[in-house]
Amino acid sequence: MNSKKDRTVVITGGTGGIGFQSAIGIARTGAHVAITGRNRKRGEAALQRIIDETGNDGVELVVGDVSSIEGIDALAHALVERLEHIDVLVNNAGYMGSAPEYSDDGVEMHFAVNVLAPWRLTWALLPALKAAEHARVLNITGGDKPAAIDPDNLQAEKGFRGLMTYTHSKSAMEAMSMALAEKLDHEGVTVNVLFPGRASTSMTGSLSLSALPGVMKLMYPLFRLLFKEDGGKSAKKAARSTIWGATSAELDGVTGRYFDTESKEQKLHPTAYDPEVQARILTVFDGAAPSRPVQ
Ligand SMILES: NC(=O)c1ccc[n+]([C@@H]2O[C@H](COP(=O)([O-])OP(=O)(O)OC[C@H]3O[C@@H](n4cnc5c(N)ncnc54)[C@H](OP(=O)(O)O)[C@@H]3O)[C@@H](O)[C@H]2O)c1
Repeated sequence: MNSKKDRTVVITGGTGGIGFQSAIGIARTGAHVAITGRNRKRGEAALQRIIDETGNDGVELVVGDVSSIEGIDALAHALVERLEHIDVLVNNAGYMGSAPEYSDDGVEMHFAVNVLAPWRLTWALLPALKAAEHARVLNITGGDKPAAIDPDNLQAEKGFRGLMTYTHSKSAMEAMSMALAEKLDHEGVTVNVLFPGRASTSMTGSLSLSALPGVMKLMYPLFRLLFKEDGGKSAKKAARSTIWGATSAELDGVTGRYFDTESKEQKLHPTAYDPEVQARILTVFDGAAPSRPVQ
């Protein structure tokens, strides 16, 4: 990879929560950082804070929504217009909903934001990634520990189950990342999955009782306590794995792996490595729209 000062790092969802704290940590190394988010006002405030806290004025904001194919492609265009190369793409923006919702493309929203978006954005940015030396893609997972994927339930076809639907989409993202790592191996671009761990952010703050399935509802008071506002303290801690992923030489040439909150390599659930499961996920992408690089 390029030296830290010449490194360009894109962080989707870098305007809040864990992505924002990751942007601060990476900007401190002197890298050029592009943060993205939907809300311009929130983004501009985040941008100013990053510049003020790090003294690095090589940070910029690119506004875009990754919940639809049109939005992903527009964001990719805006990024390639500004950046000559991308050394690290952090697919951090995520979605956790309390009720069934579908994207503009008719894709279940967890699948759209947590699985389809990182896949499509990576393909769209491939020329910019290949323009860097040994670029890295870091896909940020969530939920608890790696769990089984049910290929017949990728878009909650068996029923929407709130937090469990979120967790399942992250497992599908892990399988997608393993397939992507293999496909990009000969392109000189690595793909790895990182787990940041729990943090009090706007995502976890929005967790409602209805998002907890069945007996898990009893745990709602505990969740509220675990995710109480802490001024970014837990998000800062959770950002350590992304900062490590974007800056550590330990990841040079490493691809198709999963790293836990301590940046220790762990195995995913066996279904994430299953070519049949991966193929079923890729079928959903093809149904939504074929992925291609943005020129
Ligand atoms: N918090 C946790 O406990 C936890 C634990 C494990 C994993 N994670 C994962 O870590 C990542 C970050 O989570 P977080 O808790 O930091 O989230 P967050 O505080 O809700 O921040 C989300 C960021 O993504 C942006 N964003 C949200 N939806 C977007 C969309 N459709 N298009 C573009 N940008 C979007 C937000 O900005 P705008 O609202 O302006 O768009 C914001 O910058 C997620 O992938 C999450 O699943 C979180």
